[in-house]
Amino acid sequence: MLKQLIKDIKQKKELLQLDDQFVKEELNRYFKKEPKILKKLGEELNPKSKEYKKVIKEVRAKLRRSYGLFRVEKESKDLKELFKKKDYQKILETHSSTKERLSFYDQLYQKIFKITGIPKTILDLGSGINPLSFSHMNLKNVNYFAYDLSKEEVKILNQFFKDKKIKGKAGILDLLQIEKVKKLPKAEVAFLFKMTDVLDKGKGHKTSENVIKAIPAKFIVVSFPTLTISGKKMNYPRKGWIELMCKRLEYKLNILEFSNELFYVMEK
Ligand SMILES: C[S@@+](CC[C@H](N)C(=O)[O-])C[C@H]1O[C@@H](n2cnc3c(N)ncnc32)[C@H](O)[C@@H]1O
Repeated sequence: MLKQLIKDIKQKKELLQLDDQFVKEELNRYFKKEPKILKKLGEELNPKSKEYKKVIKEVRAKLRRSYGLFRVEKESKDLKELFKKKDYQKILETHSSTKERLSFYDQLYQKIFKITGIPKTILDLGSGINPLSFSHMNLKNVNYFAYDLSKEEVKILNQFFKDKKIKGKAGILDLLQIEKVKKLPKAEVAFLFKMTDVLDKGKGHKTSENVIKAIPAKFIVVSFPTLTISGKKMNYPRKGWIELMCKRLEYKLNILEFSNELFYVMEK
């Protein structure tokens, strides 16, 4: 049953690249909340039924929220062409998060490494294409490990590391499963940029907290947008919960503020 549902859910261009396992977990979460629908589908798996259509629609909406929402339109086609040309700087402009940072990447990394010291190893979690900003980091001998759910992005990143002779490696990782992963490399610094909303899905911040605790790095840099999706300034961009969490866990905290994004540099 799950196999067919997963296949049908992925029948949308923007969801095709998703890992089956990730879709499966989202489906399981959905069925936990909707046991009646699970029972109905268990009795009869009819793709034309009301229940079947409902599951497909609602799980797709969830996946889009965590996965697709932040991408600049038409990106997929452009991305393929830019990738062929190896125009990595232009690829940075295809995602809204990285595009916005182009004006302050240099300063951002300078400020981060002033606090953390020059790292030997960096983890970039839910990295998207952020590692393509490597030249702005001004680092030479660093091991860079990037993880994301998207196969397409992982492929681009590995090619980028190879072309630029960076000691980097990208892989697929579902951060929601991070506590089960034993062999994540240890690092001095980890980036978790614009990920907490994706992880928490509006249900408190326990998931983000568990991920933060499980990251094997001394410093973790968590960022948040300070603009709403429609481009308006948020009224309360500071994240009280992060500040309270750091107090409770006795992490040191530094805040870096840029025009559209707040960065919390936490020291474990
Ligand atoms: C808002 S983007 C942030 C990308 C990058 N950190 C940045 O700020 O430039 C969210 C990213 O998280 C990835 N993602 C979503 N859910 C994830 C999960 N459970 N585990 C790992 N990555 C995930 C998506 O593929 C996407 O690249």
